[in-house]
Amino acid sequence: MISFIVMVQLLTQLVFLLVICNYSIATDTLNPNQSLQDGQILVSAKATFALGFFSTGGSSKNRYVGIWYNKLRPEGQKTIVWVANRRSPLSATNGSLVLNDNGTLTISSMMFLPMPSVTLSNPVAQLLDDGNFVIRDANSSEFAWQSFDYPTDTLLSGMKLGWDLRTGLNRNLTAWRSYDDPSPGSYVLSMDLEVIPQVNLWSGSTKKWRSGPWNGTMYSNIETQPSINGIVISGPVSNKDDVYHMYNTSGTNIVTRMTVDQSGMFKDSVWIESTGMWNTFLYYPKRECWEYSRCGANSVCDPDAWPICRCLPGYKSKTPQEWPLADASSGCERLTALDCKNMSDGFMTITIAALPETSNAIIYPNISLNECSAKCLKNCSCTAYATANISGVGIGCVIWVSELIDMRMTSNPTQDVFFRLAAADLASISSKSSKKSQFKSMALIIIFSTVALIFLMLFFCWRRKRMTHKAFITYHQLEKDIRGNDELELTQLQWSTLMEATNNFAETNILGKGGFGLVYKGKLAEGREVAVKRLSKNSTQGVDEFKNEVTFIAKLQHRSLVRLLGYCIQRDEKLLVYEYMPNGSLDALLFDKEKGMHLDWQTRFHIIVAIARGLLYLHQDSRLRIIHRDLKASNILLDIEMNPKISDFGLARNFGEHETITKTRKVVGTYGYMAPEYALDGVFSVKSDVFSFGVLILEIISGQRNRVVLSQPNLYLLGNAWSLWNEGKVLDLLDPLIGNLFSVSQVMRCVNIGLLCVQEKAEDRPIMSSVVIMLGNDDAPLAMPKAPGFKGIFSTKHDSASDHAHLYTLNNITLTEHTGR
Ligand SMILES: *[C@@H]1O[C@H](CO)[C@@H](O)[C@H](O)[C@H]1NC(C)=O
Ligand SMILES: *[C@@H]1O[C@H](CO)[C@@H](O)[C@H](O)[C@H]1NC(C)=O
Ligand SMILES: *[C@@H]1O[C@H](CO)[C@@H](O)[C@H](O)[C@H]1NC(C)=O
Ligand SMILES: *[C@@H]1O[C@H](CO)[C@@H](O)[C@H](O)[C@H]1NC(C)=O
Ligand SMILES: *[C@@H]1O[C@H](CO)[C@@H](O)[C@H](O)[C@H]1NC(C)=O
Ligand SMILES: *[C@@H]1O[C@H](CO)[C@@H](O)[C@H](O)[C@H]1NC(C)=O
Ligand SMILES: *[C@@H]1O[C@H](CO)[C@@H](O)[C@H](O)[C@H]1NC(C)=O
Ligand SMILES: *[C@@H]1O[C@H](CO)[C@@H](O)[C@H](O)[C@H]1NC(C)=O
Ligand SMILES: *[C@@H]1O[C@H](CO)[C@@H](O)[C@H](O)[C@H]1NC(C)=O
Ligand SMILES: *[C@@H]1O[C@H](CO)[C@@H](O)[C@H](O)[C@H]1NC(C)=O
Ligand SMILES: *[C@@H]1O[C@H](CO)[C@@H](O)[C@H](O)[C@H]1NC(C)=O
Repeated sequence: MISFIVMVQLLTQLVFLLVICNYSIATDTLNPNQSLQDGQILVSAKATFALGFFSTGGSSKNRYVGIWYNKLRPEGQKTIVWVANRRSPLSATNGSLVLNDNGTLTISSMMFLPMPSVTLSNPVAQLLDDGNFVIRDANSSEFAWQSFDYPTDTLLSGMKLGWDLRTGLNRNLTAWRSYDDPSPGSYVLSMDLEVIPQVNLWSGSTKKWRSGPWNGTMYSNIETQPSINGIVISGPVSNKDDVYHMYNTSGTNIVTRMTVDQSGMFKDSVWIESTGMWNTFLYYPKRECWEYSRCGANSVCDPDAWPICRCLPGYKSKTPQEWPLADASSGCERLTALDCKNMSDGFMTITIAALPETSNAIIYPNISLNECSAKCLKNCSCTAYATANISGVGIGCVIWVSELIDMRMTSNPTQDVFFRLAAADLASISSKSSKKSQFKSMALIIIFSTVALIFLMLFFCWRRKRMTHKAFITYHQLEKDIRGNDELELTQLQWSTLMEATNNFAETNILGKGGFGLVYKGKLAEGREVAVKRLSKNSTQGVDEFKNEVTFIAKLQHRSLVRLLGYCIQRDEKLLVYEYMPNGSLDALLFDKEKGMHLDWQTRFHIIVAIARGLLYLHQDSRLRIIHRDLKASNILLDIEMNPKISDFGLARNFGEHETITKTRKVVGTYGYMAPEYALDGVFSVKSDVFSFGVLILEIISGQRNRVVLSQPNLYLLGNAWSLWNEGKVLDLLDPLIGNLFSVSQVMRCVNIGLLCVQEKAEDRPIMSSVVIMLGNDDAPLAMPKAPGFKGIFSTKHDSASDHAHLYTLNNITLTEHTGR
């Protein structure tokens, strides 16, 4: 009897447990004839993903069925990873998703998702914890249909990008049309069924970027392996049934996603828990050299060179007049035709960073390099060969039988390619290089003897001229200086070309006023837009700055520095030609109530980080090591993608390896950005640039200019920021135009770093490499800042003698005020 009661109790408990189980399964599962109404959601077992109806925000009221991260809400927004009805949204919030009893899905009894190929007798639809929405038979684990086979713009861990050759299914990522429109845009990332599998990014039918073949450790056109532990990218799988790319983070707590965005960029992002934001750690195409075939056939793109495109040895430009401005889309051709019948051709080895496009190449698995070379010589259309570790095939050889497209160079290339050249060209190349070295040793001897002579002369000159005014550089001399400097490789442009480009220097073309003259917008004959800076004829000081600008900028190459394209010295005109920056200067946006709206927090943060990198390059990484001395918002230009570029090197000084502090009697720069020791004592160092950078950070965050107006200390941004910091009201500093979408911790970090940079004592300020680390790493420790420079002017009694002395000096400083351009 007792045992019967116990049994009954056990049974009821069992039933109860079953009911509970059923209930909790029901939250991620849709049963036949059951509908999910707008407003309800399915949540996966561990609550990682949710599925339901959503709108994209913005003005659109359209309703979509989609999957998003259930818990991760960057800035309170859903991160949508899949959209069921991207082409056919609902217009009202009365929709429902129904699983029919034949195993098909219906949205509002109208639209069907791609259907399962088999008819199921007992179907269920379930949202799995990896973000996959599947339809299967209730007692089978095999999927009749899965959302992973129909990706939208996001590839999650475990999803395949590529082909199922048995069914002909092609899984690719298609970008949204815009931020608030999930319908298919023009950018598609797909795995291509070429001889060597690679991932391509398309814009319509134009290739924008390619991953290059897998070389055994990574895709050859991807510069750096993402250094995030736990992400296993094992290369493309390629066999007779499948060709796909996949990554796998399951079993770790890393959350990553790969997306194609509406601007045509593919991105890998990782979720950073501490900031509550997605952090993009890999994106392509990076600028210029990663754009597909940026340089035309048979030329190599080198982002660190100028011009960036150059012909392969043994080739010449098809249209030489286009080359100077690197618009080499028409490519290069052979100097001497190949001689196939006589077999007299040879090969030249060049180590490059990315193999040429392999879509038309031929693969020979498992043959040696010698055999490969022989195969190439035998085929009259062969232009080059290389070894390759081909996924699914193994180590073998690739030969190219067409023009060579999309080659890229870096500072440490790894891939040897053997280029076929006619015997005559090979001979002339080898003789040229030996001539070069002969020439070099000759040149060395000459240089040594001249240097000694010059030193003697300089010494006498110095003694004579010591107290006279600074040497006046004649135009003629200047021209010789610039032309004589072979290293510069600068393009000289004709006066007439620039006249034409700027419409006779029309007033309507004026972009602004630069350091030493007007800046005009111009358009060269081939359509390239440029900015032309014209040195005022009656400016003597300008000559120095002109020369400074030419010699510095031409030798500096960094994505955060504006690029000098060429110059013109003709008659008594001196002009500089720069790349055109469509978004103008930062101050014009930042301090404008309307335009400032376009600078959201993400953009501002990006600008801060990019300027920091540019400045680090100037201070430490460039071959010149430069102090800019005039860093300010009006000298930061913005390109079409809002990437900042430091410009105006007219006041820049380079400093030697061991020299860190320099003193000058002529203090130049801009009020508000000058470090105290520089403004008051003329001492400048990298730390004075750091001060200016700190001011810039605080201006970017607050949208306010830093003014040094003694009668109005409340306009003094640094003082204001310092007070708010001490009162714990840092967010009050934030520009109201930023709105609500920002990361609090990021803002706090930036203000902290800004204040560290503007500290009174130069030795307290961080160097730029620390700044870059602090900006880029959420875990980097931050020091507490001390009071900012010039604080004393406003806070202590104004009538003290020393302050008076300081103020007096301040007001007598020679300043060249550069108005924005
Ligand atoms: C689903 O609905 C259809 C039509 O209303 C009905 O014939 C069928 O039996 C239902 N299936 C289930 C499993 O309830
Ligand atoms: C949903 O609402 C719209 C208009 O509000 C209406 O036209 C449509 O018939 C409704 N659909 C359903 C399934 O009720
Ligand atoms: C499945 O059922 C739905 C609704 O009952 C119907 O519209 C659809 O045609 C059916 N599909 C197949 C393949 O039978
Ligand atoms: C599924 O379970 C039903 C009974 O619950 C059984 O009749 C059917 O054969 C099973 N199907 C499969 C594929 O195992
Ligand atoms: C991903 O990795 C996990 C653990 O390493 C493994 O269990 C799982 O099968 C992998 N997934 C795929 C699709 O390879
Ligand atoms: C992407 O996939 C769709 C559907 O499979 C296909 O129609 C389209 O051609 C593919 N696009 C590319 C560029 O591969
Ligand atoms: C070739 O690639 C495979 C994986 O794709 C890798 O395991 C192997 O080590 C590579 N071989 C060489 C020599 O790089
Ligand atoms: C693959 O390429 C990367 C970068 O170009 C290089 O570091 C790596 O050594 C290469 N791997 C092999 C096996 O060649
Ligand atoms: C090929 O060789 C023959 C004889 O050696 C010579 O006359 C001819 O000019 C060569 N052809 C070329 C293209 O060099
Ligand atoms: C590769 O070639 C070598 C000799 O040429 C041969 O011994 C070996 O079996 C080949 N390997 C494959 C995988 O074909
Ligand atoms: C030579 O190249 C052509 C492509 O132009 C190719 O079709 C042919 O198979 C190649 N010949 C040999 C012997 O590899």
